Order: sequence, then structure tokens, then C-alpha cells
Amino acid sequence: MKLIIAIIQPDRLESVKQELYKEDVNLITVSEVLGHGRQMGVTEVYRGVKEMGNLLRKIRVEIAVNEDFAERTVKAIVKGAQTGETGDGKIFVLDLVECIRIRTEERGGEAIG
Ligand SMILES: Nc1ncnc2c1ncn2[C@@H]1O[C@H](COP(=O)(O)OP(=O)(O)OP(=O)(O)O)[C@@H](O)[C@H]1O
Ligand SMILES: [Mg+2]
Repeated sequence: MKLIIAIIQPDRLESVKQELYKEDVNLITVSEVLGHGRQMGVTEVYRGVKEMGNLLRKIRVEIAVNEDFAERTVKAIVKGAQTGETGDGKIFVLDLVECIRIRTEERGGEAIG
């Protein structure tokens, strides 16, 4: 299993969601976060409201998937979020050790989707 964490521009969230749904990826956690990349938040100001000094508003998307869904999930995020501009975001792919559906106590691949 993989945990895919993506930091994207807020205005790309709807587009990313649509691309994920097309690939049958329907389980998602979304948070509002602050961050900056290597431009230190300076050159992207026109795309977002400045908050907390040079930290810009970003959206963090978390998706836990079975191995066979990992690549298509990454590709869907890229397709939905890429504009070619700095600040488009980043995707982190982590090995996921366990997943437990609390209601049923199912584990692993049974619980994840
Ligand atoms: N190495 C990192 N560690 C933690 N968070 C990061 C890292 N890189 C990027 N982020 C997060 O992702 C957001 C978007 O990053 P961004 O797309 O600006 O990356 P970048 O490396 O500066 O690439 P680009 O040159 O395309 O802008 C940042 O605001 C930050 O929240
Ligand atoms: Mg950047």
C-alpha cells in the first residue's frame, strides 16, 4: 500500500478531484495548509493570498491506495494540478504499513478502498 500526499494550488483542487474520480479513486482527505517551495513564496504571490509572512495557502491531498492504484493516482493528480507555472506543487509517495477500517476492523487492502 502507498500513501500519496500532494501539495497543490487551491484553485486546482476541483480539477484534481475530477481526474481522480475518472480513475475510480474516490477516497480522499483534504486539508488547508501553508507552505512555500524553493521560490520561498516570493514569485507566486499573484496566485494566492499571502499569509504568515512568505507562507502561501496550499491544499494538501492525502490518498491511501493499493499498489496497483498508485501510479494512476499520481498521474491523475499531475493531470489535474499541472499548469507549468512555479508553485504547481509536489507529490510525495510513501510506503504505507497498515490501514484499518474502524467499523469492521478489516485491515490492509480490504480496508483501504
Ligand atoms: N521538499 C519539500 N518539503 C516539504 N514541502 C514541500 C517541499 N517541496 C514543496 N513543498 C510544498 O509544496 C508546495 C508547492 O511547492 P512548489 O511547487 O513551489 O515546489 P518547488 O520545488 O518550488 O517547484 P517549482 O519550482 O515548480 O515551484 C510548497 O508551498 C510546500 O508547501
Ligand atoms: Mg515553487
